Amino acid sequence: MKREQWGSRAGFVLAAVGSAIGLGNIWRFPYMAYENGGGAFFIPYLFAMLTAGIPFMIMEFGMGHKFRGSAPVVFSKLNTKYEWLGWFQVGIAATIAVYYVAVIGWAFSYFGFSFTQSWGADTNAFFFGEYLQLGGDNSPSKLGSIQWHIALPLALAWAITFAAVFTGVKGGIERASKIMMPLLFIMILLLIARVAFLPGAVDGLNYLFTPDFSKLGDAKVWSAAYGQIFFTLSVGFAIMLAYSSYLPSKSDVNNNACMTVLINCGFSMMAGVLIFSILGYMAQEQGKAVTEVVSAGVGLAFVTLPQAINLLPAPYILGPLLFLSLAVAGISSHISIIEAVTSAIIDKLNVSRKKAASVVCGVGFVVSMAFATNGGLLLLDLVDYFMNNVALLGSCLVELIIIGWLIKTSDIRAHVNSVSEFSVGIWLEICVRFLSPLMLAWIVSTNLLNTFREGYGGYAQSDLMLLGWGVTAALLIVGIVVNVASRPAKETAQVEEANA
Ligand code: ALA
Repeated sequence: MKREQWGSRAGFVLAAVGSAIGLGNIWRFPYMAYENGGGAFFIPYLFAMLTAGIPFMIMEFGMGHKFRGSAPVVFSKLNTKYEWLGWFQVGIAATIAVYYVAVIGWAFSYFGFSFTQSWGADTNAFFFGEYLQLGGDNSPSKLGSIQWHIALPLALAWAITFAAVFTGVKGGIERASKIMMPLLFIMILLLIARVAFLPGAVDGLNYLFTPDFSKLGDAKVWSAAYGQIFFTLSVGFAIMLAYSSYLPSKSDVNNNACMTVLINCGFSMMAGVLIFSILGYMAQEQGKAVTEVVSAGVGLAFVTLPQAINLLPAPYILGPLLFLSLAVAGISSHISIIEAVTSAIIDKLNVSRKKAASVVCGVGFVVSMAFATNGGLLLLDLVDYFMNNVALLGSCLVELIIIGWLIKTSDIRAHVNSVSEFSVGIWLEICVRFLSPLMLAWIVSTNLLNTFREGYGGYAQSDLMLLGWGVTAALLIVGIVVNVASRPAKETAQVEEANA
């Protein structure tokens, strides 16, 4: 079967940017920045972007382009022993996909509520009580029942993703990105143009950008910056490998990689400006300090923002714009996360795209119903923590060890340079072989130790064991089993190829 291809360079870059820009930029980045030292967060963030983000993106684009396959194919072409890492990454993508879609579903609901601000004055009670129906006895393992008003928008999100992935790389994913990305940029620019001039907005921005240098010595801040970079760039969990495997042979890999990273991180800054202008305004309206109005996690998007929208001029326009932006950013990323899984299934089982997309989205939809329950938020919080801080960073570390030490890094650098307009120098190898693995080894070991010792979020040990460590270990085991099962066949094929 001939591999599908992107229709144009712009189409590929828009799809890669669409994957990168997601909930991570609008919802995660602003509170990550403020929680981890405000302006000082930008130092580790930019350091991680330059020394890990850009090199990773160039290497992943290069490998996808060179080996023309999804993550398991790429790693098994490096050496059949490494195929498991590809499956582990596909597993991480599949796990992220089922809860990521829940947040998109909430954004759809809130898009609807925002026309009339039907969340009322007490947005906290509305979100946790009325909307999520989260009860005091719920836990990540005591989920309660499916809430159909959450399941419905979630199904809508799945339907859009399914339509794009089912239709194919060029006709579906590329076309969707070409509509969604310009729309998203226009909406965000319109929003910034309005809110940046509200009274108090400058105070919000000062709060975001004023550095707290004392945080720079804290491993957690560096971990947050690295975690954010990998998550936001969609590297290390099979996505960019799949996307770049559809590049035509003549493709400017280095340039495309740098563009994707810079547009994504620039967008994050824009989102930071947007959110903190709104928070500054809200603080001023309520006569409070900015610190008193900011909240972390889901609370920022679904409690604080609605509260701020109540106070905004023309809330029936700005509110829908804000939540539609969140939903559009989320959907274009969700499409890429699902494509990472779908392409691996197509490659492995040699089935048609239509069949693979139907199975992946069908199973994904059923599993994601767990997040539409009373306790869905708690499950989401726990699984998200483990996926980001343990599985994804761990996967990136192993990937770095493989491409930096177990294969010839210079081969991939030579490959990307041979197809690109500008060449990348030896710094790429220094980052991939020394700098990034050392930083990641430190961060991953600290994370593992802290999580073992302190747990996370006050959840019961049994929940952590089953849904955190358990799920992560299960993904690893499945990867290894598939790898072991497919090795003999591959080795025979390689021997036959060599003898022929
Ligand atoms: N890169 C995507 C995001 O930031 C997954 O949300």
